[in-house]
Amino acid sequence: MIKINIVEVDKSVILFIAIDISSSEVVGKCAFKIRKNNLIRYQDAFIEKINRGKGIYKQLFNAREKYIEENYPNFIIESYCNKSTLHFFKAKGFSIKTKLYLVEKNNYISQNLKVV
Ligand SMILES: CC(C)(COP(=O)(O)OP(=O)(O)OC[C@H]1O[C@@H](n2cnc3c(N)ncnc32)[C@H](O)[C@@H]1OP(=O)(O)O)[C@@H](O)C(=O)NCCC(=O)NCCS
Repeated sequence: MIKINIVEVDKSVILFIAIDISSSEVVGKCAFKIRKNNLIRYQDAFIEKINRGKGIYKQLFNAREKYIEENYPNFIIESYCNKSTLHFFKAKGFSIKTKLYLVEKNNYISQNLKVV
């Protein structure tokens, strides 16, 4: 069993922390950020590896949705997601807006300089 604590990190970021009631350990989190033009962006979903697949994210996700419905009812909600959670987002009423590329900056020395 978990409980969910809601923390206002600053004026634009609200964090949801899942705490295991029996151990008092933090087992997961998710957050959202309030942006310009009545836009909300979901972010920072993470469940500790040993606690995955037990529905903890689902509970956090629902708590976040409820909080937004109550406090920011007319905001547009966006989120980045990966392949593993795409069907979950679709089931929650989201659809794909754009597809993104994940890029990584090349190592400057190995790419551009010859080591002598
Ligand atoms: C994605 C993640 C937050 C899911 O947490 P979880 O508590 O295991 O998820 P739940 O048990 O509540 O299940 C919710 C949905 O997450 C997905 N999910 C479940 N287990 C998962 C796993 N081991 N790996 C990836 N996705 C998983 C499924 O889509 C599931 O929906 P379904 O039950 O309808 O199939 C967790 O695996 C994680 O922290 N992954 C690494 C960080 C990450 O990818 N964050 C971005 C999320 S958009």
